[in-house]
Amino acid sequence: MTMLDFHAQVQTQLPEVEERMRRVADGYHPELAYALEQLLNSGGKRVRPTVTLLVAGMLNAPHPHAVTVAAAVEMLHTATLVHDDLIDGATLRRGEPTLNALWNSAATILAGDFLFSQAAWLGSQAESVEVMQMFAKTLSIIVNGEVNQLFTRNTFPTREEYNLRIYAKTASMFELAAKAPAHLAGVFPQYGELLNTYGNSIGMAFQVVDDVLDFSSDESTLGKPVASDLRHGLFTLPTLYFLQSQPDDERMQVLLNGEVLQEERMEALIDDIRQSGAVQQAHEEAHRYVRLAQDSLLPMPACAERDGLAELAEYVVQRLN
Ligand code: IPE
Ligand code: IPE
Ligand code: MG
Ligand code: MG
Repeated sequence: MTMLDFHAQVQTQLPEVEERMRRVADGYHPELAYALEQLLNSGGKRVRPTVTLLVAGMLNAPHPHAVTVAAAVEMLHTATLVHDDLIDGATLRRGEPTLNALWNSAATILAGDFLFSQAAWLGSQAESVEVMQMFAKTLSIIVNGEVNQLFTRNTFPTREEYNLRIYAKTASMFELAAKAPAHLAGVFPQYGELLNTYGNSIGMAFQVVDDVLDFSSDESTLGKPVASDLRHGLFTLPTLYFLQSQPDDERMQVLLNGEVLQEERMEALIDDIRQSGAVQQAHEEAHRYVRLAQDSLLPMPACAERDGLAELAEYVVQRLN
């Protein structure tokens, strides 16, 4: 596979970001260092720090601060995954066993807490109160969204509720990744709103595609089990579209009543959703967000990084994992 331009643009900077992340465990318990090392080595696409680095490059933000904030954003993302996998009882991520598959809940919670605290510490090293405020706000939006998701499991969301949920869990962090560098470069008043639109749009597209991949992909490509959303009582966009076209589907009625579907019927329903136009419709929705993201870039400084951000928006919907 040929390397996309935006990957090449951050190729030398991402190792700096990872080195910055790795060093935060210095002087702490070896098990914390071990957990962090495992997480860093397990891969991950590094999409959020890539956004931060590209925006920072486009706006000429000071490089050391850009690397620090990129590391802070990825650390925050990593921390949310550690707690999320514990909450979801997930045993596989990035093709590797999760921390909660290896450790008990107490140790997993504490490791997550450590990563949250070190994300905040890294963020503070950029010496911007605005960036710190954004970090705190983003985390509260994510937690609020996850609590909401917990309490509304097995209930069918409206389109608006679905949008709010994916905003909270995913798009909010992409907004942070895109907007924080504007503070570092001192150009937030000019570009803050456009970058908010960019981050929001690629974040919404990213999560819609995630929800599509849960139906359309396979475990070896994704590095985690597929078709798990519906099984866990989580109704995502493909299912919303499916219900729109098949309002009388009996299996859907069972789920809408909050009742459990027999395994065989569940499998058949998942297959039917896969083969219906619902997956394609959801994908088209993601494309609409990509176009919004690309439009928001037009008034920004023309440069290689801006082209990279436009390309990254396209990658978000083409990605396979
Ligand atoms: C996973 O995010 C959690 C979601 C918001 C869907 P990513 O798909 O970016 O995870 P990694 O970092 O590449 O593993
Ligand atoms: C993970 O959400 C994202 C956050 C916790 C913010 P999900 O539980 O929906 O995603 P995966 O499937 O575990 O990556
Ligand atoms: Mg979850
Ligand atoms: Mg999860």
